[in-house]
This record gives sequence, structure tokens and C-alpha cells, in this order.
Amino acid sequence: MKIIIDTKENIASLASDQFINLLKRKPNAVLGLATGSTPIDTYKQIIKKAKEQNISFKDVKTFNLDEYVNYPFYEASYRFFMDDNLFNHVDINKENTHFPSHENYLDYDNQIKACGGVDLQILGIGANGHIGFNEPNTPFDSLTHVTDLQRKTIEDNARFFSSIDEVPTKAITMGLTTIMNSKEIILIALGENKADAIKALVDNVGVSCPASILNGHDNVTIYCDKAAASKL
Ligand code: F6R
Repeated sequence: MKIIIDTKENIASLASDQFINLLKRKPNAVLGLATGSTPIDTYKQIIKKAKEQNISFKDVKTFNLDEYVNYPFYEASYRFFMDDNLFNHVDINKENTHFPSHENYLDYDNQIKACGGVDLQILGIGANGHIGFNEPNTPFDSLTHVTDLQRKTIEDNARFFSSIDEVPTKAITMGLTTIMNSKEIILIALGENKADAIKALVDNVGVSCPASILNGHDNVTIYCDKAAASKL
């Protein structure tokens, strides 16, 4: 596991380079994508570099990590987030963009496999160590599944809604094994509220910090700003 400590700006630049370089090598790459505030700057840089360097997304396939169940309006969905922050700004074919749902989740891992597996997965991390919506104590052998969000995650996500009562309480998420099946993984952690989770990840504490499963993967880069790395 490589750990790189740098500024928020440099992290977005380095992470976006990983995506752009992959697409240069493999124009039909399969990308694993995350929502949340963490990857927004990386997506901005990907859009900018794709334009500047004439990189096409037309053969790219994407699989998002997670989606809410019963989101109250389209703008609250992770589909909207991805359209707004990435898909609407590149030449991707929306039919090649996938989100787990009640209808498809039992088949989601097979769909990923059928496309050849995720080449590069980007992750954020929850203050409680979750990746995707795999909350603490999710079994390490989990595949894509429906999950109840923990109170802390609902509170953290309330900033995207007008009241906490609007925040969905269930989501569908890739499992921890689904994530580990990716060929390469980038995890980005920004801010002091991620410092405990990053320490638990690096200390490899086990199921109480789901992200610590990444210690068992042979191609992971963890990007932290100074604040997120402050407890290492
Ligand atoms: C989002 C996801 C979550 C977030 C995590 C951090 O698709 O899977 O695990 O990455 O909750 O969220 P932010 O980036 O908003 O701090």
C-alpha cells in the first residue's frame, strides 16, 4: 500500500493523472466511481485533462460504488451527482454507466466481471472507516448488497439535503470483496475528520474499520492531505 501525503490540489492532479494515463493505455477501461465531496476536484481535473488531451470516454464503462434506496428526488441521487460532476462533461455513453439498484444488485458483481472487472476504482472514506456504504462490521467477504446507513453516516450526508429527515436510511453498495476485486484502487482522504479512519486503516484494525481490508490488496494508493494524515 502506497501512502502519499500532499495538498488537496496536488492529490486531485495526481489521482486524475492515474485515470487519464489509464484511458491512454486502455480506451475501453472499466472505471469504479465514488460520489461525495472527496472526488469532486479529481473529476474536475479529469474533465479538464480529457479536453486538453483529446481523451475520449466513448468506450469507457463505469460502475458506481453505491446508490441510495428511495431517494426523495432525482437531484439527491448519486446518478445525478455523477451526471453533474463528470458524465455531462465528457463524451461518455450513459448506457455504459452503471449504478447498483434494487433491480440489479444481485447481478451487479457479475455485470462487472462480464465487462472484464474494474481497472481503476476511486474511493473516499467515511469518518467511521466505511468505503462505499460498507459500514463498520460489514463482513469482508460481502458482495453488492442492500445496507442500512448508520446514524453517523446519515448525519454526515445531511449537508446535501434541506433536513436530516430527507436523508435516505438505506443504500445499495458494492461489497468489500467487490471493491477488492478491482485491479487498482485509489483512496483519497481529506480533512481532519478522516484522521481516525486513516489511522485505523493503516493500523489494519479489521472489520471495525472496513477500509482496513485494503491492506490485503497489492495495488492501492492512499492519498491524504496533512490533516487526514495527522494521526499517523
Ligand atoms: C460515496 C461513497 C462513500 C464516500 C464517503 C466519504 O460513493 O461510497 O463511501 O466516499 O462517505 O464521503 P465524502 O467524500 O463526502 O467525505
